[in-house]
Amino acid sequence: MEMRHLYLNGAWKEGREYLDLLSPYSGELIARVAQAGEQDVDDAIAAAAAASKVTAKMPAHNRALILENAARIMEQRSEELAVLLALEAAKPLRTGRGEIARTIQTYKFAAEEAKRIHGETVPLDAAPGGERRLAFTLRKPIGVVGAITPFNFPFNLVAHKVGPAIAAGNTIVLKPASQTPLSALVLAEIFEEAGLPPGALNIIPGKGSVVGEKLVRDSRVAAITFTGSPEVGIAMKNKAALKRVTLELGSNSAVIVDGTVEITQPLVDRCVMGAFSFSGQVCISIQRIYVHESKFSTFAEMFKATVNKLVLGDPSDESTDISVLISKKETERIAAWVNEAIAEGASVLTGGRVQDSGIFPPTVLLNVKESSSVSCQEVFGPVVTLTPFASLTDAIAAANRSRFGLQAGIYSNHLQAAMQAAEELEVGGVMINDIPTFRVDNMPYGGVKESGFGREGVKYAVEEMTELKLISFNLSGH
Ligand code: SIN
Repeated sequence: MEMRHLYLNGAWKEGREYLDLLSPYSGELIARVAQAGEQDVDDAIAAAAAASKVTAKMPAHNRALILENAARIMEQRSEELAVLLALEAAKPLRTGRGEIARTIQTYKFAAEEAKRIHGETVPLDAAPGGERRLAFTLRKPIGVVGAITPFNFPFNLVAHKVGPAIAAGNTIVLKPASQTPLSALVLAEIFEEAGLPPGALNIIPGKGSVVGEKLVRDSRVAAITFTGSPEVGIAMKNKAALKRVTLELGSNSAVIVDGTVEITQPLVDRCVMGAFSFSGQVCISIQRIYVHESKFSTFAEMFKATVNKLVLGDPSDESTDISVLISKKETERIAAWVNEAIAEGASVLTGGRVQDSGIFPPTVLLNVKESSSVSCQEVFGPVVTLTPFASLTDAIAAANRSRFGLQAGIYSNHLQAAMQAAEELEVGGVMINDIPTFRVDNMPYGGVKESGFGREGVKYAVEEMTELKLISFNLSGH
């Protein structure tokens, strides 16, 4: 049985405790993974703090080279990494390959960004008393970054934290999700080979109440970057005092299809992909679809037919679209939410019940009350609601009746309508003629309301992970 240790200060360290890691699909024991205790977290922070003196002085071209090397090594190992995602996250192989390709891209973006971190000149003579000054800003590394990452993109959401941190000259203590530590631990090998100095990246799986808690409270950690649930993220922000905090939290993303749009198969395919890719375990997964009443029955019919063609099965099978969820507990929660919606008047267009294989099938619900959990909470599973609307204003208002606001989509051939939606939807990003489940890894990504705080997307994450420093030179010399 493979024993996976903590990665601390450039070396593997045995833990005092180990947790059995089981494959979500087969239930087999994959590895025994060390769990960091308080002393390990303390050691990891100390190592990162010491290494930050080295990385802060490293020239930009060196930081870029390390990131380019990491991207190249990942490219060479990409198939092995996709297989690992199928094993520990039950991510279907084809979906996993897509994640690895994006991760490589994210590290490449970070390598490029490392070379263009700069400040600007400031015209201090704009105010009386500011004459004869030459002033400019610099962006300095913030120091130690505490990164806490989720199970749903074990490589790419880690890359969105590790990549910008290295680009900016910072060091990292990473706590990966307990279900997907192996993908994170592989990074130790990759970055060691890429030339990252010891202590710059420390990877310590463990409990949130131990590792997360210490990272948030320790004054040597300058910034926290977290992707996960609003409950945990908001609690962290409340404890973080003067630390920088970036939070990527949940969503119940909506897409609106207005009456000017022809319901074509490519449009329906895209909505099915947005709702059910990785079984909806994606923060920007489509959860609510609003279709104009004139197109509703056509959309519903085509949507159902397309969903029913998705292939359910083993994540390591090439043909699989949908596999098991990350845990039985999550499957039970989603089944309970679907039952609750049905008890409250919803009807099932397709899916709705866990199968003998343990797979929760793609599920489409009609007539769902806004107050039902499957509508107003983040499902984070393969469930989507279909609702007709009469006017765009109503659809936008319904989409906005949410505690979340990450991304939204609007399909319309009417410029005015698309721009009205873009203006009025209360989210961090609006996708016109596309689904909310759209992300390219250099775009600003983050939400409003309970969907988060701050932005990722490499350039924007670098801003969150650097301190602006002003230099003013008094040219008069007195
Ligand atoms: C997320 O689930 O927050 C990330 C979605 C993505 O990167 O596509």
